[in-house]
Amino acid sequence: MSVKAVDGNVMDHATRLAQQHAPEVQPYGHLVRLPIGLSEAVCRESVQSLNQLLADTITLRDLYKKHHWQALGPTFYQLHVLFDKHAGKQSVLVDAMAERIQMLGGVCLAMAADIAETTLIPRAPKGRDAAPVQIARLLHAHELVLKEARAMARLAAARGDDGTNDLIVSDVIRANEMQVWFLSAHVVDMPRMRAE
Ligand SMILES: [Fe+2]
Repeated sequence: MSVKAVDGNVMDHATRLAQQHAPEVQPYGHLVRLPIGLSEAVCRESVQSLNQLLADTITLRDLYKKHHWQALGPTFYQLHVLFDKHAGKQSVLVDAMAERIQMLGGVCLAMAADIAETTLIPRAPKGRDAAPVQIARLLHAHELVLKEARAMARLAAARGDDGTNDLIVSDVIRANEMQVWFLSAHVVDMPRMRAE
C-alpha cells in the first residue's frame, strides 16, 4: 500500500506533545487565594496541619498494605482481609485531606519520598513481623494520628475553619477510633477453645 504525502501542518492536531518541561505553576508551600471567606493566614495554618495529617495517614495506609501482604499465622485470613479494609478507608481519608488542601489554595504532599521525610510515624522494618507486632505498630500509628488530629481540629475550629474541623472530626477521628477498636480486640490473651 502506498503512503500518501500530506500537506505541511495537516498532522499538527494528531502529533503527540509528550516532551514538555516548564517551571511549576505553584511551588509547594505557596498559597493561591480562593473566594471561600477565609483569610490567607487561616488557610495557611490549615494547609500546614492537613499536610502533616496527610503524610501520617498515607504512612498508616501503607503500613496497613504492608501488613496485609505480609500477614502470617493462624489468623492470616481475617487479618489479611481486615488490614485491607482499613487500608481502603485510610485511602478515602487521604483523598479527602489532599483535596481539602487544594480547596484551601495550598499544595498537597503526594509522593513517597516527601511523605517519608514528613511523617511522624516511625519507619517500619522492611522484613516481616508476627501478627501481634504488626497490630502493635498499627495501634501506635493510630494513636499518633488521633492525638495530632484532635489538636488540629480544635485549632481549626478556633480560627473559624469549620470545613477542616468537620473533616478531621467527622471523618479522620471517627474512622481512626473505629479501626483502633477493631484492631485492639485481636490482642487480648483469651483461651481459644475452653474457658478457664
Ligand atoms: Fe490484596
